[in-house]
Amino acid sequence: MAELSAIILAAGQGKRMHSSLPKVLHLAAGRPLLGYPIRVAELLGVRRVVVVVSPESEAAIGEMLSREFPGLEITTRVQREARGTGDAASVGVGAVDTPRTMILYGDTPLIRPTDVAELDRAVQGADCPLAFLSAIVSEPHGYGRVLRDERGRVTMIREHRDLQGPAELAVNEVNAGVYLAETAELVSALGRLSPQNAQGEYYLTDIVADLARERNVVAVKGDADALVGVNDRAQLRQAEQLLWARKAAELGRAGVTIRGEVYVDDSVSVEPDAVLEPGVRLRGATSVGSGAFVDVGCVVTDSKIHAGAELLPYSVVTQSEVFGGAHVGPFSHLRPGSTLEEGAKVGGFVETKNARLRPGAKANHLAYLGDADIGERVNVGAGVIICNYDGFRKHHTVVGADTFIGSDSQLIAPVTVGKNAYVATGTSVTHDVPDDALAIGRSRQQNKLGYAATLNERLKQSANKK
Ligand code: UD1
Ligand code: CA
Repeated sequence: MAELSAIILAAGQGKRMHSSLPKVLHLAAGRPLLGYPIRVAELLGVRRVVVVVSPESEAAIGEMLSREFPGLEITTRVQREARGTGDAASVGVGAVDTPRTMILYGDTPLIRPTDVAELDRAVQGADCPLAFLSAIVSEPHGYGRVLRDERGRVTMIREHRDLQGPAELAVNEVNAGVYLAETAELVSALGRLSPQNAQGEYYLTDIVADLARERNVVAVKGDADALVGVNDRAQLRQAEQLLWARKAAELGRAGVTIRGEVYVDDSVSVEPDAVLEPGVRLRGATSVGSGAFVDVGCVVTDSKIHAGAELLPYSVVTQSEVFGGAHVGPFSHLRPGSTLEEGAKVGGFVETKNARLRPGAKANHLAYLGDADIGERVNVGAGVIICNYDGFRKHHTVVGADTFIGSDSQLIAPVTVGKNAYVATGTSVTHDVPDDALAIGRSRQQNKLGYAATLNERLKQSANKK
């Protein structure tokens, strides 16, 4: 859409959020609110994206834009004072050089490209300088109402606080806050705005009455979910729930089995035949391969779960990679830099960090594996700890293929255990173990024959004295 520019308004104060963070930078389903309308503009391939910011939010928004949209050229304009959406649009339109302009709000994350495309068709039709998106809702409170004449033509949008009488209050067609206009008509209508209303602000919505006097302004009715605007925390929650529901529906259509409620961010990809059980939370740059199984309550962030991997209940995986046939959990924690290769297994209550478990390696119960390379088919027993930190620095540990690390052993890094070696239960490994060697380092057990009976007798006597 090379003839189209997008202006996104993000200079409001967001007072109703009661937050030190600019409203449009609050996250919903993993993305800042402002990221959603920008993404719509990007997907539509508009010529220019203009974001209107406030002096206070300029730096933080600029930082977010270069982080989230590194490849997209975005123009920012500063609205000196929050004098209303009409004033903000006037600031933005100065940077527009295309015949048509769309305007979106930075706080409406559910708008989709298809909604806007329909508006563009209307404006390219006969005698229509402006089209906007509306929706029929059951709770219109707080939104601008779309007023029509007796023939059903749009005459104006009246803001909630300016409504006159119960008939207007009862109108349930509301303004979703997405506009598409001929740029020249937009510029002249914005020039005629005045702040004669309950809030003493320049309302963008007043361009509707202005342009409807002589030509046709079209309201395209969209679905009610799309319009949710985030002004407070309750609406933030509502918008986020809708984003998650939309993502779950989309994954379902693509062949993913979803049981119960899951929370998958927009940025996550899940392949067909993967299964997500109730309460799963997938965040950031995460991908889940075909046929992978993610059990109840798992939280996965910025990680690759390959086809055929299995995460058992309540496991947490962060910046890590789990290959096919590998298992994690229940109740285990893969911290950044962990890799479980094919068929590796981490059982219950195991924590890993910056650790590679090569194919078939196993740590089935209660272990800590940090800064380690664990060879193929190694068996790590219950309660094994890799002591990677000496209080000052982190050190690396290597365990060769087919080695057995007995339960309750400690590997005190830096240390290398060779291939086919055997570390006896309860050994503190302080220096390297050669291939094929047995390492045993524990105090020898003594059995004192008959001594238990003597001890019991003595204890009984001392109890009787008291
Ligand atoms: C606005 C609409 C209302 C609509 C609703 C949909 C107006 C006057 N009203 O109301 O009809 O039903 O959205 O969600 O437009 N902003 C600026 N500068 C300002 C004021 C606001 O950039 O001076 C930005 C805000 O950052 C925000 C957006 O404009 O992203 C909308 O402003 P907001 O105050 O949230 O408008 P609503 O009261 O929600
Ligand atoms: Ca709003």
